Amino acid sequence: MEAVGKLAGGIAHDFNNHLTVIGGYVEAVLENMPDGPAREGIQEIQGAAERGASLTRQLLAFSRKQVLAPRAIVLTDVLSSSLNMIRRLIGENVAIETRLEGVTSRILADPTQIEQIIVNLAINARDAMPRGGTLFIETARVLPTASGRALPPELSTVPCVMLEVRDTGVGMDRETLSHLFEPFFTTKEPGRGTGLGMSIVYGFVRQNGGHIFCDSVPNKGTTITICFPEIHGVHEPARQKTEAAAPRADGHETVLLVEDDGAVRKLIRRLLQKNGYVVVEAESGAAALATPVTTACGFQLLITDVVMPEMNGADLARILIERCPTAKVMYLSGYMEDEMLRNGVATGDAGFLQKPFTAELFLRKVYDILHS
Ligand SMILES: Nc1ncnc2c1ncn2[C@@H]1O[C@H](COP(=O)(O)OP(=O)(O)OP(=O)(O)O)[C@@H](O)[C@H]1O
Ligand SMILES: [Mg+2]
Repeated sequence: MEAVGKLAGGIAHDFNNHLTVIGGYVEAVLENMPDGPAREGIQEIQGAAERGASLTRQLLAFSRKQVLAPRAIVLTDVLSSSLNMIRRLIGENVAIETRLEGVTSRILADPTQIEQIIVNLAINARDAMPRGGTLFIETARVLPTASGRALPPELSTVPCVMLEVRDTGVGMDRETLSHLFEPFFTTKEPGRGTGLGMSIVYGFVRQNGGHIFCDSVPNKGTTITICFPEIHGVHEPARQKTEAAAPRADGHETVLLVEDDGAVRKLIRRLLQKNGYVVVEAESGAAALATPVTTACGFQLLITDVVMPEMNGADLARILIERCPTAKVMYLSGYMEDEMLRNGVATGDAGFLQKPFTAELFLRKVYDILHS
């Protein structure tokens, strides 16, 4: 599993570079393009790039290298806003019944992961009901004493916010049930399922501090129950601030840009220059250290890829900040290295941007860091 995780993470990293370039140029082209068939074509490309990005998110989640963005959320709100998409996914054959009202307690979770959880569960339920049936989606606030289950210690003292997804489908026998969360376990025919759905659901639930249970009876149906511990107080990271300021072409600072992927580097350079910044670029840490601006500290911001051969972005930043203490740092990466996560480099910090990103998000981040 370790090796598979490494492989998935590595692919996702390179793939994110390509998606950054595709998405970046598509965005730039669409800016000045009149309506018409050509524009529609480009928009299709944009849609495909976004779907590619969501696929890499799945891969990264799987290899546990996804950058988590947990927030205090109301589960019901996230579910309600996914319902339309779920309706479309499961088709007309299956009825949906929901009971989502009334649970206002908050949990600490990454909303995009919650969406991916519900989508995976809904698709499994649909596949289990080829001749139709009903999908029930319910939330409830459950007191630890009332659950009737042997709960793990962290859930036996706090109330949990429960998500229950139930179907009236084919159910699972013991054998299937015992492999349910295994990656690549599938009973579907080749091309219909990869067997990653439930292992990703499991990973997401655990990453967000929750627990998952499954009850299933052959020919009767399946119930998936997920519990997230309720939280008190506010755990909102400082994101409102970044959402407020939307800077436009008013940069003037000098940016040292270090990125080993030539196409990504070119895209970012053009974006920065178009918005007034002066750009000095380098393809590696060593090349960056050799540029005159670094010896004279003539730059205000270092933008560096995290994962680069020889010298990584964090090591480069350390050396440069020692040399030029007033310079700011912004990391770009397709994923977070475990080691960086452990050392707390930039997680939740203003200085990290995950690839692929939109031009707007990128420029806002640059502006925020320079003005922080
Ligand atoms: N609601 C359900 N009802 C009956 N069987 C299920 C249900 N959910 C999962 N399963 C069984 O568990 C297996 C694994 O599910 P999982 O979601 O991990 O993979 P998949 O659906 O086969 O493929 P993928 O999700 O990657 O497209 C399924 O192939 C199916 O046999
Ligand atoms: Mg599935």
